[in-house]
Amino acid sequence: MRVIHVVGARPNFMKAAPVYSACAGRGLSQVLVHTGQHYDASMSDIFFQQLGLPTPDVNLGVGSGTHAEQTAGVMVRFEKVLADVPADWVVVYGDVNSTVAASLVCAKKSLPVAHVEAGLRSFDRTMPEEINRILTDQIADLLFTHSAEADANLTREGVPPHKIRLVGNVMIDTLVHFLPRAESECRVRRPERYALVTLHRPSNVDDPGNLREVLDALVRVGNKHRLPILFPIHPRTRQRLPDQARTAKLELLEPLSYLDFLCLQRHAAFVVTDSGGIQEETTFLGIPCLTVRENTERPVTVTMGTNKLIGRDYARLESEADQILAGRGKRGQIPPLWDGRTADRIADVLANA
Ligand code: UD1
Repeated sequence: MRVIHVVGARPNFMKAAPVYSACAGRGLSQVLVHTGQHYDASMSDIFFQQLGLPTPDVNLGVGSGTHAEQTAGVMVRFEKVLADVPADWVVVYGDVNSTVAASLVCAKKSLPVAHVEAGLRSFDRTMPEEINRILTDQIADLLFTHSAEADANLTREGVPPHKIRLVGNVMIDTLVHFLPRAESECRVRRPERYALVTLHRPSNVDDPGNLREVLDALVRVGNKHRLPILFPIHPRTRQRLPDQARTAKLELLEPLSYLDFLCLQRHAAFVVTDSGGIQEETTFLGIPCLTVRENTERPVTVTMGTNKLIGRDYARLESEADQILAGRGKRGQIPPLWDGRTADRIADVLANA
């Protein structure tokens, strides 16, 4: 039994690491394919080192490009890999361009695909990730979900129930495993009290007006509360930052390693983000999260967790920050099956599939 794992971008790596390890524990033969969608040392290599993922067996080296270039590049190169490397299952992760590209190639070759983190829906088709999610789930053969809401989305879209397995949240496996090391090996200078920010979604950073408004709101929060605002910058955002004067009051950092970022999340007064995974990690950690988006494909983080959607209502961002800093932040619960054992459940299913 041989499994090929396909990873491409930063949020894939922490999902694949525990699944790879659990499959190894069950004696499955494995091949790790990196599409090269993310390629910087700080966006890719450091995650392999820290998460204990082996050096990829194959790197497709697809790099940056338009959506069509990236998706097509992965398809052409991955198809060639499959000609040389026979497999029983291909496992894809999350919602990035590499995920849908690899799934499409397999579907045309009748090679079974398992999708980890299936069924998430923002119902916003202007998001490239939403298109990737819908298409991947339509052609995957096994759909591993992290919440009952995800199962309901798949069922509504006509996915037969026997393909769906509610296994829990595999990112939380990685978090649980690495939290002690994140605490002991944190290399970032951490102020006593601070807010942590990440922004990279096209809807926030590709429009210069939107980006300026959110940065100005963050500066106002920082000034009002004398609160350092730590902001590790995604390359997409770095390319679009306005003049220096606007960001001078923010502590801009390079993209951080997994352990450093986890440590910063764990001790933040609150987090402001448009990332998907960070909404989940803050829910698990019990840290208030203000999500600068109109919608989320992870509603359980709002209904059960510490997440609040604030959209573009920056006055609300300021008032929510006031509440949190006055000790009245949202408290949440950890959703069922976010227990650190999801990868074992996935590997058990794969080993018996
Ligand atoms: C991708 C995913 C998104 C995920 C995000 C996490 C898609 C459609 N989007 O968005 O779901 O949340 O990754 O990071 O797949 N760049 C670098 N170095 C790198 C990687 C990218 O400089 O290592 C630059 C690229 O040249 C490009 C920009 O960052 O200009 C965006 O990269 P891209 O791979 O297109 O997607 P992301 O915006 O990172």
